[in-house]
Amino acid sequence: MPKRSKSSQRWLQRQKKDPYTRKAIEQGLASRAHFKLEQLDKKFKLLGGKMRVLELGAAPGGWTHYLAERVQRVIACDLLPMEIPTDVEFLQLDITSDEFVTAMDAIIKDDQLDLVLSDMAPNISGIRAADQAASMYLVELATECAHKYLKPGGNLVVKMFQGEGVDEWVSERRQEFKRVQLVKPDASRKDSREIYGVAINARIKGKISSSV
Ligand SMILES: C[S@@+](CC[C@H](N)C(=O)[O-])C[C@H]1O[C@@H](n2cnc3c(N)ncnc32)[C@H](O)[C@@H]1O
Repeated sequence: MPKRSKSSQRWLQRQKKDPYTRKAIEQGLASRAHFKLEQLDKKFKLLGGKMRVLELGAAPGGWTHYLAERVQRVIACDLLPMEIPTDVEFLQLDITSDEFVTAMDAIIKDDQLDLVLSDMAPNISGIRAADQAASMYLVELATECAHKYLKPGGNLVVKMFQGEGVDEWVSERRQEFKRVQLVKPDASRKDSREIYGVAINARIKGKISSSV
């Protein structure tokens, strides 16, 4: 067997120690990310019966499976292929592409969704400013989807990295939603800069701006 590098040994050790990774394996879940959505859902009561949800950054599918068991319609999107639960509509597309916009416009009309979720993360380069900008770009695109497809009263949850652009995002969303909060679920790794922006109860459509 080839010798593992120090960094991959450290990664393996961290995986073995992590209680959420262990729980995900025991329960046969697609990813430990399942628990982040579960905790956000418990805190904000995000999901229920007849909801229609757009999920961005879905692979490998932890959130998608959680959603599929709880809401009426799930449209999931990711660059990568994944195992798709029955009845989930999956777009294997880049959210930055024209194809994504065309596909969304074909399957959904304005104002239809109850919830837009994004767990998208860029490929990390290690250059902090570049990674922050890449992450905020994905946040911006997810927020544009909320502007376009969220019904009044709907909710938006977006993964972001703590740093430049986050405070601005919060203050802009406060113009558009009744309640906006930054949250780090317990299942989010302590050593990661990841947080979630949660925007609850979109005000009437005319008051949601079209620019981020
Ligand atoms: C942290 S993972 C998501 C984990 C997932 N929520 C789960 O529960 O298993 C982030 C995902 O974002 C996706 N992603 C990053 N950039 C994207 C883009 N431009 N368009 C679509 N998906 C993207 C990646 O391919 C990756 O699968």
